[in-house]
Amino acid sequence: MSTLAGKHIVLGLSGGIAAYKSAELCRALVKAGVTVQVVMTEAAEHFMTAVTLQALSGRPVYTSQWDAREGNNMAHINLSREADAIVVAPASADFMAKLLHGRADDLLSLMCLARPIDQVPLIVAPAMNREMWANPATQRNVAQLRVDGVHMLDVGQGDQACGETGDGRMLEADEILEDLEAFFTPKVLAGRQLLVTAGPTYEAIDPVRGITNLSSGKMGFAIARAAHMAGAHVTLVAGPVSLPTPRGVRRVDVRSARDMLQAVEQNVGAAQVFISTAAVADWRPATSADQKIKKDGSGQTPQLGFVENPDILATVAKSPRAQAGELFCVGFAAESHDLLAHATAKRERKGVPLLVGNIGPATFGQDDNALLLVDAQGARELPHASKQVLATQLIEDIARRLGALKA
Ligand code: C5P
Repeated sequence: MSTLAGKHIVLGLSGGIAAYKSAELCRALVKAGVTVQVVMTEAAEHFMTAVTLQALSGRPVYTSQWDAREGNNMAHINLSREADAIVVAPASADFMAKLLHGRADDLLSLMCLARPIDQVPLIVAPAMNREMWANPATQRNVAQLRVDGVHMLDVGQGDQACGETGDGRMLEADEILEDLEAFFTPKVLAGRQLLVTAGPTYEAIDPVRGITNLSSGKMGFAIARAAHMAGAHVTLVAGPVSLPTPRGVRRVDVRSARDMLQAVEQNVGAAQVFISTAAVADWRPATSADQKIKKDGSGQTPQLGFVENPDILATVAKSPRAQAGELFCVGFAAESHDLLAHATAKRERKGVPLLVGNIGPATFGQDDNALLLVDAQGARELPHASKQVLATQLIEDIARRLGALKA
């Protein structure tokens, strides 16, 4: 379930063409279980109608500080007191300048100023032309708003409505949603470095053929996302999968097991946690042809010999930092039966403190899974749920173990 479910958010729109994305954001928030109260500035109403946002949020939109619907005529107090956060998207350069100076001549800026600063966070998604964004005045304002405790979201980069190209676009609705979800996630891994492997590997036979497996990478990607939301710096070493990179995660794409080992060795030095979810091919063809192996019509088949791939997890688990307890290693086991027995044996064989078992054929490619966490003390089940929910539970479990290790 989203960390946003049950929250009440004031969505403030100031004037900017990116306001069309706020309609989508409003809808996405409602879908995530948020109640949304939209507040628009006069400038915003030039770009979007209040009717659209009322229909999407299911609540009347507020546009004026003189709105007589409020019994005490204090919309700025009432609306800001009941919110879990105020999200201004789009935030124009002018609106940010207003925030900076504590000006309050319209309902939205008045509300931002009147909010209880320790209880109602203010989250701002800037949107403007690249020159306006790069202007020292804007950059100064952004830096000072951060100092004032405002949570500033990034800007996007690319084509702008004005025809120019550069920084300053408002993030897309799904990116803002993701950042809001991260904002509300407890930071149990704040500042930690995590390295995750995910997906299958691909072992070439020749330039057009190879050996791989059915791993989708979904579990590893979900873990990388959950760890990032929990405040970790995450590097994700991914075999060939077509999944989108979780927001805020650094991704290194690899193909073969040996590429994956190399990428892991290059990135593991700074990590405190290594989670190995990749379905690494156990063997690779002994030779890989430079040119496509041709069928010559004789009925002869190519003779394939195999050699064993390096065991990435076992290699990392044997490293001095892992042995010294500075690097916490977590392995995965995809089994078809006798999960507890196989996972227990695999944990010892790989030399890792925590091994996560799952039933391989039941999980490959699926969005759901069930996990069995096996450590030296015994086993704990994380019952059937979406991979994202399980990833969050696993990250919480690992965070507890890191706390215990530190004590
Ligand atoms: O031996 P098995 O493949 O079942 O072990 C699974 C665990 O070991 C997973 O965590 C997987 O990512 C890791 N592994 C590895 N390198 C290999 C084989 C498996 O890191 N060559």
